[in-house]
Amino acid sequence: MMKDILQQLEERRETARLGGGQNRIDSQHGRGKLTARERIELLLDEDSFEEFDMFKTHRCTDFGMEAQKPYGDGVVTGWGTINGRMVYVFSQDFTVFGGSLSETHAEKICKIMDMAIQNGAPVIGINDSGGARIQEGVASLAGYADVFQRNIEASGVIPQISVIMGPCAGGAVYSPAMTDFIFMVKDTSYMFVTGPDVVKTVTNEQVTAEELGGASTHTKKSSVADGAFDNDVEALAEVRRLVDFLPLNNREKPPVRPFFDEPGRIEDSLDTLIPENPNTPYDMKELITKVADEGDFYEIQEDFAKNIITGFIRLEGQTVGVVANQPMVLAGCLDIDSSRKAARFVRFCDCFEIPILTLVDVPGFLPGTSQEYGGVIKHGAKLLFAYGEATVPKVTVITRKAYGGAYDVMASKHLRGDFNYAWPTAEIAVMGAKGATEIIHRADLGDAEKIAAHAKDYEDRFANPFVAAERGFIDEVIQPKSTRHRVSRAFASLRNKKLTNPWKKHDNIPL
Ligand code: HXC
Repeated sequence: MMKDILQQLEERRETARLGGGQNRIDSQHGRGKLTARERIELLLDEDSFEEFDMFKTHRCTDFGMEAQKPYGDGVVTGWGTINGRMVYVFSQDFTVFGGSLSETHAEKICKIMDMAIQNGAPVIGINDSGGARIQEGVASLAGYADVFQRNIEASGVIPQISVIMGPCAGGAVYSPAMTDFIFMVKDTSYMFVTGPDVVKTVTNEQVTAEELGGASTHTKKSSVADGAFDNDVEALAEVRRLVDFLPLNNREKPPVRPFFDEPGRIEDSLDTLIPENPNTPYDMKELITKVADEGDFYEIQEDFAKNIITGFIRLEGQTVGVVANQPMVLAGCLDIDSSRKAARFVRFCDCFEIPILTLVDVPGFLPGTSQEYGGVIKHGAKLLFAYGEATVPKVTVITRKAYGGAYDVMASKHLRGDFNYAWPTAEIAVMGAKGATEIIHRADLGDAEKIAAHAKDYEDRFANPFVAAERGFIDEVIQPKSTRHRVSRAFASLRNKKLTNPWKKHDNIPL
C-alpha cells in the first residue's frame, strides 16, 4: 500500500518533469534552447535544487482550458545554491502554453520572490515566455503586476538577475527591466514592447524580431541588456560567475574569496602605459586587469558606451566595482550614454555595499547639439548625483586628464572620495592647454609664437597633479607601477567605513 503511494508520487513527479510533453521538449532542443529544468540544473550547484509548487495547476475554465491542466503551469520555481551560496530561481517552461504567464504561474513566481526578500537571497529569473496567458485575460495581467510590485520592493534589498532565453514581449519586458542585470542569448532571445507585426501596422516600419529586439540590439543600441552570450550554457555559466561577486542582500557585505595574487604586486609596465603624446589613446582595460586579483574582470555593458568601462574585480579577494574612462573611445569623454551607464552601475554598487574604484582619464563632456538636445545636462547629472550620494568606500586614481566638470564628477575629493590618488602624468585643470590659452590670451591669437609660449606656461602650471595636491584635493601622487598595492591598502583601510546621508524618504535623482 505504502509502496503504491510512493510510486504514485514518483509518477506524478515524472509527469510534472515532462512539462508540455516530449514533442515540445524536442522542438525546444531543435531551436538550440534548453528546457526550463535543464537550465536550472546548469545554473545551480549539482543536486542543490529544491522545488516549490511542482503540482500547481491553473484555474482557468474558459476556451477549453479545463481539459489541459499540466502540473507546474509553465514555470519551475524553487531555490538552490551557486558555489554554496543560496539563490532563488524561476525558470519559465516554453513547452507549457508557450511559457505564458497565468494567474497561478505568477503566484509561483511571487512566492519565491517573497521568500527571497524575507530570507535575503538573490532572485534569478529565466524568461522564455509568450507573455500574458491569452485565455486568462485580465487575471494574467494582474499576475504580471504582482510580479512587478515585488521587483520594485526587492530593488536594493536583494540582487535580481534576469536571463532572457526566448521571447519576452509586451508588458512582460518590464519585470526584467526593473531587475539589476539582464542577460540575453544571441539568436534565440527577444525583448520588445510590441513585436514586428504591430510595428509594421502602426509605423509601417519593416523590421525583423532580431533587429527590433535581439541581443545585439539591446547590448549595443538600447542598453536594455547588460550582456549577450552565444548559447544557454555559456549564459548560465556567466550568471554563476557574476553571482560570485555579489552579496546575497543589502544587509551583508560582498563575499570574500580566497585569492592567489600578491596584494603588493608591482607592475613595472604601468610606468609606461601613458603615451608621450597626451592625445594618443591607450587601453584603460590594461590598467584594470593589472590591478585586479588574478587579472579577473567581469565587465558589465561591454558593448555599449565604450567610452566608459564598468564591471567587477576583486582586491584581496573582496569585490570592488570599477568605473573607468576609456581613452580609446571618444577620447574617454563623458556623454549621455556613458553617464547613464556608469550612474546605474555606481548606484548598484552603493545599494549593495560594493566599494568603488574610479580610474580617471577624461577630457570633459562631449560638446554638441545632439548631446544638448538629448539632455546631457540631466544625464551627466545622474553620474554626478550617483557618486555624490554613494557612501561606500571610494578610491580614485587619475592617470592622465581630469578636466573641467568631468573632474568633479569622477569621484573627486569634493564628492567624498576617500582616497584620491594621481599618477605623476595627471593633468588636473579646467581644460586642455590649447583651449585655455585661446580663451585667456585671445588678443594674441594672431601670433603663433606667443600662443605657443602661453600654452607652455599653462601646461607647466596645470598639466600636473601638484596644484591639486597642494590643496589636498589629491591625497598622494603615486607611482603607476604601485597602483595595485596602493589601491588594495586603501580599500583595506576602509573596511569599517561608516557614512550616512541625511534622513529622507528617498532622493530625487534627475531621471
Ligand atoms: C497562451 C500561448 C501564448 C500566450 C504562446 N502560446 N503564447 N498560449 N498564451 N500568450 C502557446 C501557443 O498556443 C502554442 O501552443 C505554444 O505556446 C507555442 O507557441 P507557438 O506560437 O507555436 O511558438 P512560436 O512559433 O515559437 O512563437 C512563439 C511566440 C508566439 C512568438 C511567443 O507564440 C506568440 O506570438 N504568442 C503570443 C504572444 C503575445 O501576443 N502575447 C501576449 C503579449 S501581451 P501549442 O499547444 O500549440 O504548443 C502581454 C502583456 C503583458 O504579454 C502585460 C503585462 C503588464
